[in-house]
Amino acid sequence: MNTSFEQDLSAKGFIDVAVDPTIDLVAEINRLKKEKNAVILAHYYQDSEIQDLADYIGDSLGLSQQAAKTDADVIVFAGVHFMAETAKILSPSKKVLLPDLKAGCSLSDSCPPHLFAKFKEKYPDHLVITYVNCTAELKALSDIVCTSSNAVQIVESLPADQKIIFGPDRNLGAYVKKKTGRDLVLWNGACMVHEIFSQERIDALRQEYPHAKFIAHPECEDHILAQADYIGSTSGMLKYTIEDPTDTYIVATESGILHQMQKSSPSKTFIPAPPNNMCACNDCPHMKLNTLEKLYNCLYYEQPEIILPEDIIARAQKPIERMLEISAKLGL
Ligand code: 13P
Ligand code: SF4
Repeated sequence: MNTSFEQDLSAKGFIDVAVDPTIDLVAEINRLKKEKNAVILAHYYQDSEIQDLADYIGDSLGLSQQAAKTDADVIVFAGVHFMAETAKILSPSKKVLLPDLKAGCSLSDSCPPHLFAKFKEKYPDHLVITYVNCTAELKALSDIVCTSSNAVQIVESLPADQKIIFGPDRNLGAYVKKKTGRDLVLWNGACMVHEIFSQERIDALRQEYPHAKFIAHPECEDHILAQADYIGSTSGMLKYTIEDPTDTYIVATESGILHQMQKSSPSKTFIPAPPNNMCACNDCPHMKLNTLEKLYNCLYYEQPEIILPEDIIARAQKPIERMLEISAKLGL
């Protein structure tokens, strides 16, 4: 790597080289993908143009399953840092690239590993379940990882008297607690996108569209979930809108998922749940750092790459693999 790349990556987080405006970016990305035997994995919260060129689009669980089984040499992760780290942990011999290293996660940031390690010390007889939205270091401190599509089932798969710490999301934790009746010890973290919804504005919208169903991601606060017709992960919400006969939905999660909902059900109407008046939209500022140009440069220069210490990979692998094993057993 030359010096200007090193400066770009440490200061900006991405390769800041101007892309020739006359090239067909999508065609060039597809050509490079073949040439390098690369696969593009994209989360539902990515911009629609990135979703449309990805080899696989999915929620956190689906993306982890794909990362574990791909035979590509290079994984380009169109998502956020913790997702690319998870891919690297599951496929350590592969080159894992993230278009912008600064694509972080407020939820992951809300749980610094050194503080979590102290918190964990207070509950020595508890098993630690962590939501995948956390750093590799935090996963290395865990017994089992989960995602929003399997958190309830993972807790239920454990003996009823098993004491459990759940982190870092307090909202998902509270939801799992309610669904399973288990007394989980919760870390007090949250996602900035799922805590911005305005109860008042949702109520007004539901009056305007009385036949619409209200669907929500379990990272939302309890009072928002309490009024939902359906609660689930991004892929769960998508599946629900495909199978349910209603024609209008108010959707409480990051707005990127609306692209797939609209593509899968073109005749239906999807309305993003309104945020409070402090926010203009439901976009995740981290997810939306990735652009087509950054993705092209990332594939072309094979940078920025996710590098993790070997001991962290070894320790974080076990809890993620445990999640994948339980999910496979349950057919998730
Ligand atoms: P899922 O992909 O599990 O639905 O989670 C959403 C999310 O917040 C990812 O950052
Ligand atoms: Fe993190 Fe929330 Fe963005 Fe998901 S939507 S990546 S949890 S900040």
